[in-house]
Amino acid sequence: MADPVFHRPDLANELADAILADGALAPARSGLFLAAPRRTGKSTFLREDLMPALENRGAAVLYVDLWADKAMEPGLAIVSLVRAALASEDGAVLKMFRKAGLDKVNVGGLGFDVGKVGLGTGVTLSQALAALSDRVEAPIVLMIDEAQHAATTEGGNNALFALKAARDELNSSAHHGLRIVATGSSRPKLALLRASKDQAFFRAMMRNFPPLDARFVQWFIANTGLPTPLDAARTEAAFRRAAWRPEVLVQALGDLPDDNGAWPPADRLDDAFEAAVAAAIEESDEVMLKVVRALTPLQGAVLRVMGAQGEDYSPYAAATLEAVAGQLARLDPNSSVKPDVPNVQSALEALQVKSLVWRAAHGEYALEEQGLVDLMRSKGLMA
Ligand SMILES: Nc1ncnc2c1ncn2[C@@H]1O[C@H](COP(=O)(O)OP(=O)(O)OP(=O)(O)O)[C@@H](O)[C@H]1O
Ligand SMILES: [Mg+2]
Repeated sequence: MADPVFHRPDLANELADAILADGALAPARSGLFLAAPRRTGKSTFLREDLMPALENRGAAVLYVDLWADKAMEPGLAIVSLVRAALASEDGAVLKMFRKAGLDKVNVGGLGFDVGKVGLGTGVTLSQALAALSDRVEAPIVLMIDEAQHAATTEGGNNALFALKAARDELNSSAHHGLRIVATGSSRPKLALLRASKDQAFFRAMMRNFPPLDARFVQWFIANTGLPTPLDAARTEAAFRRAAWRPEVLVQALGDLPDDNGAWPPADRLDDAFEAAVAAAIEESDEVMLKVVRALTPLQGAVLRVMGAQGEDYSPYAAATLEAVAGQLARLDPNSSVKPDVPNVQSALEALQVKSLVWRAAHGEYALEEQGLVDLMRSKGLMA
């Protein structure tokens, strides 16, 4: 079967080298943050390209996606991952390390009960990861996909706090190093994580994760199964309009055949594909805009002000409340709602329930997705 993934070995090798660099001042010693918009291939790259590149360099890689199981508290998800790595003397995780060429895995006694590993449950993450480091005798890379979720709960914050201690401990000369790699979809959120000095990502290196490029488009064209190939330049332009989301191209391809399963004639193929991409973009925009249209005027006003202020958003500052009042008057000139602190707070809670807004456990707010503001701006909804 053809490989369903387009690989980026150059990017993976470059990042793997930066992550494992061992100089005292190597920037990624404090961690690496990869930020990119939704659905642009972060998780795929971590699992399919970066993980193997790190393993080829002899690192032991642990991966957790804090969004994979929304019912699982993020702190617990991190703890469970570390427990699983330790518990598997002959189980999956260490086997994975062996497969990756680490044959020196020491499976001796741990001196503690794996079940006690946790946050305030007897064995700290630091002790547990140090024991793992001694066992595998290799650097450990902990990949936390959608790391911003860790900041939304007390347990998650405690885990980030514990990981900071573990990072400092394992990066000392006594062990083999711990590197934390995190992804997230909005820079303001990641910036908040990076700013707290007692947490895992303090001063972590921030990189914009580069979107898939022209080579991906060539790979896509080569794999469409169409009787004649799509035009490269036009497909690239369409991919750019789709904000570099592979799924939009895939959906458009699926929409090309007519009801009898016949492809469009060769001379109209590119036009038809462009139209199908435009329809797919419209459809996904519409999903987001529908949510925005269903907001109350106050919720809409709060969302717009938050989008406009970006990283500087402070919900209850006088100037912010004034800006909300201005937006509210524009959205609903007859509004009788007062944009005061309690009302803004309820609006923020409602926006959070609708997954438009992210709230850290310590009360900071940020947009769940930067793309929404860009979309609203492009549709003239941000004025
Ligand atoms: N390198 C690739 N080759 C082929 N398809 C890809 C590649 N990268 C991503 N995709 C496709 O794009 C979609 C989104 O990918 P992925 O889930 O990795 O993105 P993400 O940025 O992690 O998304 P989210 O923001 O939802 O976490 C998936 O359908 C995936 O199959
Ligand atoms: Mg992902």
